Amino acid sequence: MAMRIDILTLFPEMFPGVFGSSILKRAVDKGYLELHVHDIRAYTYDKHHRTDDYPFGGGAGMVMMVEPIARCIEQLQSERDYDGVFLMAPDGEVFNQQKANEMSMFHNIILLCGHYKGVDERVRELYVTGDLSIGDYVLSGGEIAAMAITDAIARVIPGVISDGASALSDSFQDGLLSAPVYTRPADFRGHRVPDVLLSGNPKLIDEWRMDQQLTRTRERRPDLLAHE
Ligand code: ADE
Repeated sequence: MAMRIDILTLFPEMFPGVFGSSILKRAVDKGYLELHVHDIRAYTYDKHHRTDDYPFGGGAGMVMMVEPIARCIEQLQSERDYDGVFLMAPDGEVFNQQKANEMSMFHNIILLCGHYKGVDERVRELYVTGDLSIGDYVLSGGEIAAMAITDAIARVIPGVISDGASALSDSFQDGLLSAPVYTRPADFRGHRVPDVLLSGNPKLIDEWRMDQQLTRTRERRPDLLAHE
């Protein structure tokens, strides 16, 4: 059965390009993944279709109202069971490869894209099961975070990447960065591909790659090795 991701957003027009390209498109076309983008504005009651309002107690910025978000989530939850409702927020748990692997086992999830100054706290109290951040910086909204998370989940669903080994050899999958890769020509303006890769000796090539992974990780991301 395909994994299903429902995305709740005020900006549905941001998604078709990303969801209609590359691996995400293939995951959907091959039936591994269903992606549904919902416009929160369609769930408003009032005639002006307002989705945000001034913060109680004053202060800068607008706050996304609980009502339209609640109606959208309740509609979805009446149709099927969900494994989680995740709010995209800079103060959430930082998303990483392990989280992507774990979330790829879910059947149905909801990703809620926050905007403006935030989302009425009652959305968190009543509906949200987890908050996710894609890094320690502030985006204008959760849409790009939801796209990044959807992409990272999709590519580790078994079968999505036809070369089964490919997703597993990604940087981070074994806690290390990937080794450098090369393709033709073997000599580009005097910059040659390392001889070992042209040697035809699989054992030597494997050793070289492992060595490169360790060296790169030590140089660029020593924090990844710190726990050892
Ligand atoms: N919304 C705003 N900033 C974000 C971030 N860093 N991660 C997820 N959602 C966000």
